[in-house]
Amino acid sequence: MQLPSSCPTHPTRYTTVVDPKPFSGQLALVTGGSRGIGRAIAQKLGTMGAEVIVNYVRREADAQLAVAELTELGVTASALQGNMGDLDDIHELFAKVKDTHGGLDILVNSAARGLERPRGAMASLPQHLRTTFETNVLGPWFAAKEAAPLMEARGGGAIVNLTSLGAQRYTPNYAAVGVTKGALDTLTMYLAVELAGKHIRVNGVCPSWVEDTSGVRAMDGGFGEKLRQSIPAGRHVSPADVANLVAYLCTTEAEMIIGQTIVLDGGVSLIGMFDVP
Ligand SMILES: NC(=O)c1ccc[n+]([C@@H]2O[C@H](COP(=O)([O-])OP(=O)(O)OC[C@H]3O[C@@H](n4cnc5c(N)ncnc54)[C@H](OP(=O)(O)O)[C@@H]3O)[C@@H](O)[C@H]2O)c1
Repeated sequence: MQLPSSCPTHPTRYTTVVDPKPFSGQLALVTGGSRGIGRAIAQKLGTMGAEVIVNYVRREADAQLAVAELTELGVTASALQGNMGDLDDIHELFAKVKDTHGGLDILVNSAARGLERPRGAMASLPQHLRTTFETNVLGPWFAAKEAAPLMEARGGGAIVNLTSLGAQRYTPNYAAVGVTKGALDTLTMYLAVELAGKHIRVNGVCPSWVEDTSGVRAMDGGFGEKLRQSIPAGRHVSPADVANLVAYLCTTEAEMIIGQTIVLDGGVSLIGMFDVP
């Protein structure tokens, strides 16, 4: 349904058309869509008309809950288990999407790990760095490779990678995640250029500290409140803020935004966020 609206003072020049369900008929896969930010993104895309596949790796009950919430909202949704740090799992997951749906329109790479051992660069452990890299960099990389032909089958699509301000600003106890998110920013640029000709747009969303998420709860120790006091917008970014931006990047209104990683931080990066340890 299309709802016309117009500016009362400039009715012809500023007439806009708002489609509340721009993703009707589209299929979206949200990796790590069962909890936190991924779950908010799944809800946003679903309420904007998409059918949603919620990926998770360990906590099936959370995935089922996320699907039940989507169903309650009138969204067609399902859960799909798969470890985004395992290339065989990624291949199998996309094979299932192909078998069941034949194509894909939207891929959001939100699944990530690394905060289970919050450490600085010098204290990081080799195996932890490897598994963090596999999930946060190789996961989105191979997911994009698998998704591209499924999107081509639909005439194009959108991929959004969740990166982090910790890739651009020193963040205490965040080295493993921060470095992998920096790699993901660069990957976003390479994929964007290579896929643009196939009408597949790749972009990144780069939030600062997002309230109400398990990752930041693990790191907190008063740090979140201290940070909040220096945010020009006066509050932390919420999962809904991230979901709104991800959804916008997937609409055709954003079709000329290609290969950009957009910072979403209430202005905090403009003023210098953290004390040097
Ligand atoms: N929270 C923040 O402040 C913040 C800030 C900047 C960027 N980000 C980024 O935003 C994204 C979401 O963060 P979040 O804090 O919402 O995460 P979260 O609450 O920790 O949720 C993680 C989700 O990812 C899934 N997951 C983890 N490892 C996976 C794997 N190997 N394969 C498939 N799924 C996996 C989890 O599934 P299971 O429950 O089954 O394990 C869960 O659904 C991440 O990319 C993160 O780096 C977060």
